Amino acid sequence: MEKLYEGKAKVLFPEGPDTLRVYFKDEATAFNAQKRGLIPGKGVVNNKVSATLFRYLEAHGVRTHFLEELSDREMRVLRVEILPLEVILRFKAAGSFAKRYGVKEGTPLRAPLVEYSLKSDPLGDPLICPEAILALGLAAEEELSQVRTTTLKVGELLRDFFAQRGLDLIDFKLEFGKRQGEILLADEISPDTMRLWDQKTGEPMDKDRFRKDLGGVEEAYQEVLRRVLRE
Ligand code: TMP
Ligand code: ASP
Repeated sequence: MEKLYEGKAKVLFPEGPDTLRVYFKDEATAFNAQKRGLIPGKGVVNNKVSATLFRYLEAHGVRTHFLEELSDREMRVLRVEILPLEVILRFKAAGSFAKRYGVKEGTPLRAPLVEYSLKSDPLGDPLICPEAILALGLAAEEELSQVRTTTLKVGELLRDFFAQRGLDLIDFKLEFGKRQGEILLADEISPDTMRLWDQKTGEPMDKDRFRKDLGGVEEAYQEVLRRVLRE
């Protein structure tokens, strides 16, 4: 079938006027696609982890674009107009935050911190402050307020979910879409878009293993899936 859009990790296929089929690939990129590779089985893991988390969040009152799992690598979702923002929630310092402020990875933050980046590959997803989001008309005040509230709620729910599975949720990235005036959680929630550290060993169990060449990338993804599904 003709694709609607192909991104770095997923392909979108049009269905009806209201829905899309999302196909999750094994291709991995990092540092704005300067680093490329393959993580065998990643597409299956990310589809199943995302589907499970979307269902869990929906069950706790979070509205998402998720409709159903179609196959190992595919899900059906509602068509939304994606807000051009990456919304990041951090519980502990890591990644770009640790580097920017010169703090040790793993330093706990006094309170969960919401950050926004402008979704733009040519600009390298620069950080953007809420005032600039409003000034540029990327979201309305009410929409941004809903995005922030939902992100904090998702953070609490996901942190509990992973804590029960021996994983420490360090930070994650969300994307939101608009549909008929309503804001829905969209995109994916997977080891590509979160930092998860094993509670016992402190080892990263997410895409940082690929970003930092730590080895055991496939195994970490499979272990996250196993724990998410509680097999
Ligand atoms: P960062 O510390 O590199 O800014 O990443 C924060 C979180 O966002 C981390 O959980 C990884 C996730 N992330 C994405 O999902 N996509 C991206 O392009 C980047 C840079 C980070
Ligand atoms: N997915 C992003 C990219 O390629 C970056 C990342 O996740 O580190 O560019």
